[in-house]
Amino acid sequence: MHFGHFDDEQREYVITQPDTPLPWINYLGSEAYFGIISNTAGGYSFYQDARLRRLTRYRYNGVPYDAGGRYLYLRDDRDGIFWSPTWQPTQTDLDSYECRHGLGYTTISSSYAGIEASTCYFVPVGENLEVWDVKVTNRRPEAAGLSLFSCIEFALWEANDDATNFQRNFNIAEIEVVDGVIYHKTEYRERRDHFAFFGCSEELAGFDTQRRFFLGQYRGWDRPVVVEQGEATNSMAIGWAPLGSHHVKLALEPGETKRIIFVLGYQENPRDAKFDPPDTQTINKESVLPIIARQLDPAEVDRQFAELGEYWDRVLGVLHVDTPDVHTNRMVNIWNAYQNMITFNLSRSASLFESGVGRGMGFRDSNQDLLGFVHLIPDRARERLVDLAATQLETGGAYHQYQPLTKRGNDAVGSGFNDDPLWLVLAVAAYLKETGDWSLLDEMVPYDNVPGSEAPMEEHLQRSMGYTLDRLGPHGLPLIGHADWNDCLNLNTFSDEPGESFQTTQSRDGTVAESVFIAGMFVLAAQEMGPITERRGDADKAAEYREAGERMVQAIDDHGWDGDWFLRAYDAHGDKVGSSSCVEGQTFVEPQGMCGMAGVGLDDGRLARAMQVVNERLATEHGIVLHQPAFTHYYLNLGEITTYPPGYKENAGVFAHTNPWIMICETMLGNGDLAHDYYLRINPSAREDISEIHRSEPYVYAQMIAGKDAQTPGEAKNSWLTGTAAWNYVAITQWILGIRAEHDGLRLRPVVPSGWDGFTATRVFRGVAFDITVRRTGPGNEVALQVDGEPLDGDLVPVPSDRDRVRVEVALG
Ligand code: GLC
Ligand code: GLC
Repeated sequence: MHFGHFDDEQREYVITQPDTPLPWINYLGSEAYFGIISNTAGGYSFYQDARLRRLTRYRYNGVPYDAGGRYLYLRDDRDGIFWSPTWQPTQTDLDSYECRHGLGYTTISSSYAGIEASTCYFVPVGENLEVWDVKVTNRRPEAAGLSLFSCIEFALWEANDDATNFQRNFNIAEIEVVDGVIYHKTEYRERRDHFAFFGCSEELAGFDTQRRFFLGQYRGWDRPVVVEQGEATNSMAIGWAPLGSHHVKLALEPGETKRIIFVLGYQENPRDAKFDPPDTQTINKESVLPIIARQLDPAEVDRQFAELGEYWDRVLGVLHVDTPDVHTNRMVNIWNAYQNMITFNLSRSASLFESGVGRGMGFRDSNQDLLGFVHLIPDRARERLVDLAATQLETGGAYHQYQPLTKRGNDAVGSGFNDDPLWLVLAVAAYLKETGDWSLLDEMVPYDNVPGSEAPMEEHLQRSMGYTLDRLGPHGLPLIGHADWNDCLNLNTFSDEPGESFQTTQSRDGTVAESVFIAGMFVLAAQEMGPITERRGDADKAAEYREAGERMVQAIDDHGWDGDWFLRAYDAHGDKVGSSSCVEGQTFVEPQGMCGMAGVGLDDGRLARAMQVVNERLATEHGIVLHQPAFTHYYLNLGEITTYPPGYKENAGVFAHTNPWIMICETMLGNGDLAHDYYLRINPSAREDISEIHRSEPYVYAQMIAGKDAQTPGEAKNSWLTGTAAWNYVAITQWILGIRAEHDGLRLRPVVPSGWDGFTATRVFRGVAFDITVRRTGPGNEVALQVDGEPLDGDLVPVPSDRDRVRVEVALG
């Protein structure tokens, strides 16, 4: 069942029914000002940090669902009938409804009682504000007299405090209204140097800024008393709950369209120039007034909207593919790349499932996200790597998370997730391969942000590797610490206190529990560090990394292979986890994927055997589950993984992030059919037909799809902010389509389905556009290349220095 359709030409998903199974959201903003917006205008905005600079209020887990947003009300002043042209919050049965989620904008259109309204919400490139571009058309045979009300509810900046500290918060709100612009300035009188503004292009009939006057004390957003009565009260909020609502009167002739622009934004003033006149409490508006004036000009809005489109043309122009499969094309060319950019912007901080107050930027998460966006925005990827490395500790360990506004490591979560540091190695390696910018390794980066502790980035990588080697367990495998990639496999926690954090509580000394996953990851990282140090001219170090990698492979061979698959771990008692000797949780996907990607067992048939087991035990029609059998009860020695009901999240859900690792392994074994089959099982577009089961957005990946043991197999949750986006993109573009950046050029080694007769792609790599045509000449995966008509030995195409376009033909068979 569908709730809409793709419009690939426009790069939009078009939702045609407002009551989608879950709110289907989109993101506004690409630099510092961001918002989430649902298909019925729910959502909120913030500046840089969803916790510390929240502009508008949203009620997570409120009822009705998706409460709080960028609301509009239209009222027919003839009979008093009113409705929301975005469906929420009045939920009026509209005559037509359509929401188009595009790249960085959302347009919601509807008609009701002969009045059409269409609102395009977007954040102009380089601005700290959002524009609501509203067009109202009268399709009636007679003139219409309407009222239009806008409404947002201001958050008192710190989102967590805003939702909890009412004894203070009901007393602090302050507002100014000048020339129709509503300024929210709570705490501006004291230590805040910023305020929010909400302006409108039209002359106002009135405004409201105090919630209870606008809504009426016991009413909800669905029937504000001001809208019902058709008259604003010009309320000025001091304390209680400040909001912003403009009242505009519209007189429309038959067929006439009126355009009304709203602008909501964030502005800072220098601390010594906050007030004007200086001895008052009035906001100095000198810097903001020109911004507001410009943003309310329709020509400027048009120009900026076009500029947003050009921004996305540039970003998405780096890789474009044309394959026989529409789901591959659509995700690679549009949605998967877009989702990668959203994870770049927001890591795991703000979505419908991430409330913006919990997690900042994850160390492991952001490093992995980079794998999906490094080619799209290499400069900003470089900055991100520096920020991440600056939260690394002198030990080589890393803060698990940091806050984007302060860029400081988050003490509450701390460090000790022993896979974390290795992700930095993989991310930096990806950056070097993409850009060839070796100067990054010389960049001086502090540890733990402490001035004076700066060391070259290369040393940070060395300490990452050292961190693992300094922490080997009884079998020579890496100690797991709080957890490895699987945050919920907590082998040192042993928690029997309700509410205790599984991730930060540690009641064992941590010298026994080992992770085969980290072992595989170390091998992979050593394979990157060898060539990197060699190129830097340190042959001895390169040899050390090679040997360390080999020793780790040996440890996996000796203690990490269970007979038919890779073991998951040893627990704090030294007992096996993820072994045929276990009662539950016998086979885990993560070590199969990670050891496999590192090539362990590739030559001796073990990887092929492990992949067969994955196929038999873990693969389902909805994707590959994390492990089998699911845990049916709580295990003190395993931790949070056993807290989830079977089939959900880390307890045998399809944790979609891991599926691409298996796709990659299948391509390494030459199985293009199975790799692409796995790819399609979780490809959101390919699941569009079962939207009533999948329930989450059909245009982006979700973290989890409920597994076969679940009550609702196939149901996706935690969409948007997930490493699933980057890894699926890596699997399809670099391993299945086989277009891979390497230090010395672009490698072309497709392992595509046998039924494909070929595909074409354009990849911009180090300033050169590679026009790639792959033609199938036989059933296998061997390639023969021609570059600009000349045969090339091997599959690595060097970057020409004398041209900015090359034509590469690949015969595949
Ligand atoms: C979440 C976390 C990620 C972790 C995964 C598995 O997605 O953000 O860091 O690897 O869960 O537990
Ligand atoms: C919870 C989630 C997991 C996440 C972890 C850390 O355990 O289930 O996915 O990685 O919290 O925030």
